[in-house]
Amino acid sequence: MGTLAIIVGIICLCSQAFGVSAQNTDSVNGNNTRCYDQLGCLDLGPPWYTPKRLVPVPGSIEDVGTDFQLFSRHFEGSVVVNEWPNVSIERNVNVTFNLPIVVIIHGFYASAKGDWLHELKDAYLEKKDVNVLIVDWSEGAAPPKYLLAVSNTRVVAREISRVLRYFSKQGANLSETHCIGHSLGAHICGYVAKELKAEGTLIKECTGLDAAQPGFELADESVRLHEGDAKFVVGIHTNAAPLIPFLGFGIMRQFGDVDFYFNEQVTQPGCVRNSAAEAVANITDLTDLAAVPWEFVAEHSACSHGRACLYYIEAIKGPCVFWGQRLPDIERILTKVPVLNRLMPFANDQCTNDTCIPVGFDTSRYSYRGAAFVRTNSQPNFCDPEEAKQIWSGDRFNLLSPFSS
Ligand SMILES: *[C@@H]1O[C@H](CO)[C@@H](O)[C@H](O)[C@H]1NC(C)=O
Ligand SMILES: *[C@@H]1O[C@H](CO)[C@@H](O)[C@H](O)[C@H]1NC(C)=O
Ligand SMILES: *[C@@H]1O[C@H](CO)[C@@H](O)[C@H](O)[C@H]1NC(C)=O
Ligand SMILES: *[C@@H]1O[C@H](CO)[C@@H](O)[C@H](O)[C@H]1NC(C)=O
Ligand SMILES: *[C@@H]1O[C@H](CO)[C@@H](O)[C@H](O)[C@H]1NC(C)=O
Ligand SMILES: *[C@@H]1O[C@H](CO)[C@@H](O)[C@H](O)[C@H]1NC(C)=O
Repeated sequence: MGTLAIIVGIICLCSQAFGVSAQNTDSVNGNNTRCYDQLGCLDLGPPWYTPKRLVPVPGSIEDVGTDFQLFSRHFEGSVVVNEWPNVSIERNVNVTFNLPIVVIIHGFYASAKGDWLHELKDAYLEKKDVNVLIVDWSEGAAPPKYLLAVSNTRVVAREISRVLRYFSKQGANLSETHCIGHSLGAHICGYVAKELKAEGTLIKECTGLDAAQPGFELADESVRLHEGDAKFVVGIHTNAAPLIPFLGFGIMRQFGDVDFYFNEQVTQPGCVRNSAAEAVANITDLTDLAAVPWEFVAEHSACSHGRACLYYIEAIKGPCVFWGQRLPDIERILTKVPVLNRLMPFANDQCTNDTCIPVGFDTSRYSYRGAAFVRTNSQPNFCDPEEAKQIWSGDRFNLLSPFSS
């Protein structure tokens, strides 16, 4: 997965002392905005740019190089959605526009070629008759400039919104849109949803697959994916530990209606290496972080960060259900270093309809809201039917989500 490389970029960035841009005075119009043909202007002042968030001016449309591919049950292969000069469908196919749209977006140092986007698309199309738009912004997400990629997310979001408006004109109901993004892609979903909300359309769901932490954990709600952006917002957390010293790349805080915290905060099972505890113990600041061997980092963090995608694909595929168990007081737990990597004891023991909630299509149909703990196997299939039997104690539940088709 492209996510393996995420950390390398971060390290380059750290070793350059966050040298991407000292300040934002080179804003393009002299009034601290950057304007784009047909996309409008982006405000470059606070909360986008603050002393703790020294992001450079976002790149041009050409620099970011966003591409769109459309998939559906109704035609073979993919169809390119051209964006310029006006949005249009490239191939002469019969696109069925009046279907819900599912948008899938990758993160830093990744591209739409990543296996997970296509596995998720195939799993989704198997279950639902939808149009899947896979967004590639790999040029804008290229390493080592993580903070530039952070800034570019706003351009990508404006472009996605523009394409969605085209679909709307052709008959799509944007209220049915489901946006799924990994890492930085999660926040892009947030921006798209906020933009459409401002125009009067609340989209159906945003799913943040281990939404990016650096540049977002402490940022204003307008700058990150947040509850209320869509009718329903879900967080899938698999690497929710402090960047320093634990190399966590996923956002720690709750941001959705439901936030699933998988297994343990720092490393997912199967991602651990023996030297992990020792090497992590040695990290105390950014300089140490830059000195950590690449292979260690790759195995230690990127594996866990990328697991969010793999778990979600299994959740969409079914029939095994990942059950989240009520996890009270998560904000307090997450900031307590002594309990890092030990979330399970805080989870509610036995499931009832009010305290457990499934990951996937049916999440919003259950009543529980808040943080939930999910346990998985250490390798595929990550979802374990035996786990469900334990937490639901025998015949209290039929183990299959009652709503899934
Ligand atoms: C900044 O300048 C651009 C170009 O002159 C203009 O389109 C935009 O509206 C201005 N923005 C603000 C906030 O004044
Ligand atoms: C693009 O759309 C604009 C406004 O709708 C229109 O004026 C223009 O002719 C279109 N350009 C092309 C190449 O179709
Ligand atoms: C396009 O799809 C519509 C609806 O599914 C169908 O009625 C129509 O015959 C199709 N046209 C072509 C050219 O395949
Ligand atoms: C669009 O979808 C929403 C949510 O499913 C629904 O409430 C609304 O009536 C739909 N609008 C149209 C025009 O079909
Ligand atoms: C951590 O620090 C100790 C003591 O300085 C050193 O012996 C050990 O090799 C370091 N471990 C790693 C993985 O860097
Ligand atoms: C729990 O929810 C499921 C699905 O809605 C329902 O079939 C079942 O009867 C509920 N059980 C109780 C005890 O409410």
